[in-house]
Amino acid sequence: MNVVLDHPLVAHRVTLMRDHETPPKLFRELVNEITTFLAYEALKDIRVSAVDVVTPVAKAKGVKVNEPRIILVPILRAGMGMLDAMLNVLPYAKVGVLGMQRNEATAEPVPYYAKVPPAKDGEELALVIDPMLATGGSACDAVAQLKKLGYKRIKFLNLISAPEGISKFESEHPDVPVYTAAKDERLNSHFYIVPGLGDAGDRIFGTL
Ligand code: PRP
Ligand code: URA
Repeated sequence: MNVVLDHPLVAHRVTLMRDHETPPKLFRELVNEITTFLAYEALKDIRVSAVDVVTPVAKAKGVKVNEPRIILVPILRAGMGMLDAMLNVLPYAKVGVLGMQRNEATAEPVPYYAKVPPAKDGEELALVIDPMLATGGSACDAVAQLKKLGYKRIKFLNLISAPEGISKFESEHPDVPVYTAAKDERLNSHFYIVPGLGDAGDRIFGTL
């Protein structure tokens, strides 16, 4: 399943984020805001239990989030840019990180670090975050690593997707839904997303 956010408030922010003149401070703020919208969409089916609440006026029926373990998994380094927004909406989530660097010539992901707690019973909800789904290599490898650790409930949230990455991801991990803020046209010969936004890590961290 691939969900593309279709909302003018998201499209407005994605447009500003693409602009090559947008400086890192504003870029980070936009990543934050768009990630909040992604979380809103991706967590529509989060598990809840019924609770009663007493308002100043009357008794009411309410709900309480009931996910005993949520693990946020940013893919280093650009995924870190989405972490604060996710922790704002899920303050009790745990965080595991996966380090991955694309080989610049082949775009193959090269894993260099992994610190994710193993799943206990497969009931954990793992949310992988990374702004870019280009060839799909990094996201596919990250999800494969989580499955090896025993995670069964996994979602992938990203900002900009290329059709090539979506196809690869859907064929390797058809059980993992993808939530994205924009689906772009294609990859160029350097495996960058067109029109995209350039190198997400460089734009977040100001390392252009
Ligand atoms: C970027 C991005 C993804 C990956 C996407 O990371 O953040 O992790 O590329 O490309 P793919 O779908 O073709 O795998 P990069 O490897 O540039 O590392 P960085 O986050 O450290 O900049
Ligand atoms: N990684 C990025 O940061 N940008 C792209 O366009 C592709 C991969």
